[in-house]
Amino acid sequence: MNFHVMTLFPEMIEQGLSASIIGRARDKGFISFEATNIRDYSGDLRHHKVDDYTYGGGAGMLMQAQPIYDCYRHIADTIPDERRKCLRVIYVTPQGSVFDQNMAKEFSKEEDLIFLCGHYEGVDERVLEEIVTDYVSIGDYVLTGGELPAMVMIDAIARLVPGVLNNEESANTESFSNYLLEYPQYSRPEEWMGKKVPSILLSGDHKKVDDWRLEQSIERTKMRRPDLYEKWLIENPPKPPKKKRKRHIDRDDSQNSQ
Ligand code: ADE
Repeated sequence: MNFHVMTLFPEMIEQGLSASIIGRARDKGFISFEATNIRDYSGDLRHHKVDDYTYGGGAGMLMQAQPIYDCYRHIADTIPDERRKCLRVIYVTPQGSVFDQNMAKEFSKEEDLIFLCGHYEGVDERVLEEIVTDYVSIGDYVLTGGELPAMVMIDAIARLVPGVLNNEESANTESFSNYLLEYPQYSRPEEWMGKKVPSILLSGDHKKVDDWRLEQSIERTKMRRPDLYEKWLIENPPKPPKKKRKRHIDRDDSQNSQ
């Protein structure tokens, strides 16, 4: 999978994604990422300006349409025809739909994704209309630019690409995979600061451990994320209590018992 990022700060993307699991996945060729500097496409050859005042007044500067469009065209031209036709271009903006695990799953099926990182007071609407397919936010707060949100999304998407996580990493039961948060986990030593590892985890009884973990996940989700718990409940409605089977009482028996 190939991530293309249009940004004014390519070094942020390069450095942010080069470490750890995502960096290793890039080195091994499971994913690629490339940050392209929008400033390189400025029509202003002297100052490489990419922003200007807003028509109608208002504070702050707006990113202009032309450098973004030319940057996009440059990236799109490197992508083969059949993939370019269905290319998704994500504008990271607090005005978008809020990113979640389902979106990460959906995006991880794409071969290429282009991210547009905004800065200043925003981007000229006309270029957004022309190139953007998805408006995505990482939450209801405002950051100084789109680079961190783009990296957050790329990390969450990339780890779902086959090969990116090794077996041990991907075998982990994960928060959100079924609307439940992950259960508490413990490592050595068995006792730390007077706190003991729950004895059931030392029992060696896998069925009991699994049941305990599920129970803990449910409790934790209920306490910390009641919104997720509600979703889980819809998919896992409580089972009605088993009806007690009426014992067939033999006529003779009943007579005997009287
Ligand atoms: N740009 C600034 N804030 C943002 C947010 N919360 N999500 C996505 N892009 C942003």
